[in-house]
Amino acid sequence: MPVKIAVLKETRANERRVALVPAVADKLVKLGCEIHMQSEAGAASRIPDSAYKNVTFAANPQGLVSDADIVVAVQPPPADVVDAMKDGSTLISFVYAHKEPELTKLLRDKKITTFAMELIPRITRAQAMDALSSQAALAGYYAALLGATNLARILPMMTTAVGSIRPAKCLVMGLGVAGLQALATARRLGAMTEGYDVRPETKEQAESLGAKFVDTGVDARGEGGYARELTQEEKDKIAAVVTKHIQQADLIITTAAIPGRPSPKLISKAQVDGMKNGAVIVDLAAEGGGNCEYTQPGQTVQIGQVTIVAPLNVPSLLAEHASELYSKNQFNLIELFVKDGALNFDWSDEVLTKAALTHGGEIKNEAAKKAVETA
Ligand code: NAI
Repeated sequence: MPVKIAVLKETRANERRVALVPAVADKLVKLGCEIHMQSEAGAASRIPDSAYKNVTFAANPQGLVSDADIVVAVQPPPADVVDAMKDGSTLISFVYAHKEPELTKLLRDKKITTFAMELIPRITRAQAMDALSSQAALAGYYAALLGATNLARILPMMTTAVGSIRPAKCLVMGLGVAGLQALATARRLGAMTEGYDVRPETKEQAESLGAKFVDTGVDARGEGGYARELTQEEKDKIAAVVTKHIQQADLIITTAAIPGRPSPKLISKAQVDGMKNGAVIVDLAAEGGGNCEYTQPGQTVQIGQVTIVAPLNVPSLLAEHASELYSKNQFNLIELFVKDGALNFDWSDEVLTKAALTHGGEIKNEAAKKAVETA
């Protein structure tokens, strides 16, 4: 019996991605899977049903998942769809359990094995499954383009018959995956680039992309390669150095995040008030409330002569490539446990144990368990 995979059409607002692209569907078939997709699942990514070969389509999501061994999606599926899933089957999608306590309890109670894409460990072997990174890289690229198109000036130096235009200054705050991609893109577009982060190892990474590093002398390395929250003293020390760079920038891209916490505020109202006329801030941290005190998540606001752009779900704006990378990330995970046409979980594999949100009627991730059971 082949492993039956059901692919859902996304239903959340502004979600254009699809969890499976045609090239990956072919690879899953070769792996011994039978694929059933919800009709028009790829339509918002500009992938018509006709582009998928060897895939059966059905309109009703409950019917689709009722006998599937594995259900794949981008966003957590609606509760009525999870409810229709076979007890003990497998779900692979982003979940963010602390935002979805009821759904997580339902997954637990239905004994579903849930691999939450945001829990894939950030280790070298799991890089090909790391959807946080693949999607953040696209978002970082797009942030630079959004910045460029919201400015009333150009990024590169340009020499014309009537004189030269100086290149724009772009400051990127938060140099994780998205921030480094934003730095690289802004530089390719001709801007003079500067980067800043509280993890000192990002200095070398920024410099290798041709950017200057704004050194504040603060080291806020936390666990697992992430940053920790700052003390007030550290915040004051940083502000004393960074304010000048904020005020000289034409474009600022912010991407700072601390796992499980609201976005740290890197730019105060007073700092925005001191910015250059016409400057633009692109706040990629809008999902967690934003890195700027004036940010309104999902909106573009004008504060004096400064524009603050704070889009939500940026990878979805590049749905074709975001779906392609996400689908490949999921395939690499599925390949770990679909062998010879059957599901076989190796629970000594760190990737599976860390990515498993629920299994066998339990919430396996300790932080999620605490968040869900006290919610
Ligand atoms: P993230 O989205 O959690 O945060 C973005 C950036 O914001 C980080 O660089 C963080 O240091 C910075 N930040 C946090 N608070 C800040 C503040 N107050 N001021 C300035 N910057 C602040 O980061 P992302 O992109 O998820 O990467 C996190 C870490 O994981 C990095 O060390 C990255 O190199 C590592 N990583 C490792 C991978 C692997 O080995 N497979 C794959 C992807 C990432």
